[in-house]
Amino acid sequence: MNRLLIRIATTCLAIVLCGAAGWCEDVAPKVAGAEINTVCPISGKPVDPTITVVYEGRTYAFADAASRTTFNAARENSLYQKLGGQAALSAVVDAFYVKVLADERLKHFFAEVNMDKQARKQKAFLAAAFGGPVAWKGQDLRTAHADLKLTEADFNAVAENLLKTLQECKVKQELIDQVMAIVGSVKNEVLNRPKAAK
Ligand code: HEM
Repeated sequence: MNRLLIRIATTCLAIVLCGAAGWCEDVAPKVAGAEINTVCPISGKPVDPTITVVYEGRTYAFADAASRTTFNAARENSLYQKLGGQAALSAVVDAFYVKVLADERLKHFFAEVNMDKQARKQKAFLAAAFGGPVAWKGQDLRTAHADLKLTEADFNAVAENLLKTLQECKVKQELIDQVMAIVGSVKNEVLNRPKAAK
């Protein structure tokens, strides 16, 4: 129990520090040997390798200067960056799964799941959903949850754990509201319900 509390406290400290630092650039893992992209993430055209920006230790190349400006503006305005970027999100997801795995309502769903992989996927999914620089390339949420036969109560229990994690980590209420709205917006997919009528 004590070890659990220490882990959560350490995680929360990381989030508070990252939030204060904004970019978290010096704590974000460097992507060793990562290839620079050849397709511009903004225009979809081939890149000019001299037009680049380094974000969270990773270099992104663009087709032209205007695309780079668009990319930088999107980063600055993103919920992802306001939360503290990769390091903060990673810490939130780790603390969240500690809670989920201790929750009697939920732990059985993850009994056979490789939690390192799951946490990695969840970090990548949420990063993309919050406006991070890398698009989600995993399964769509309908397919990923189709066999689990989840109920509204299951979804709400997961959302409750995420909310508690964010609160314990002293994330600003305004950002918590944005996170929870995005998570709420995928409910129909996760529960494999028909899309909400427009
Ligand atoms: C609240 C919104 C949710 C989001 C954003 C979400 C996100 C994800 C993502 C990104 C994956 C990995 C997909 C892939 O393999 O590419 C995943 C898998 C999974 N999710 Fe969720 N999920 C949500 C809700 C839930 C709920 C409510 C449960 C259960 C109570 C759940 C249980 C699982 C399990 C067990 C897997 C692993 C499936 C497998 O590897 O066989 N998820 N989820």
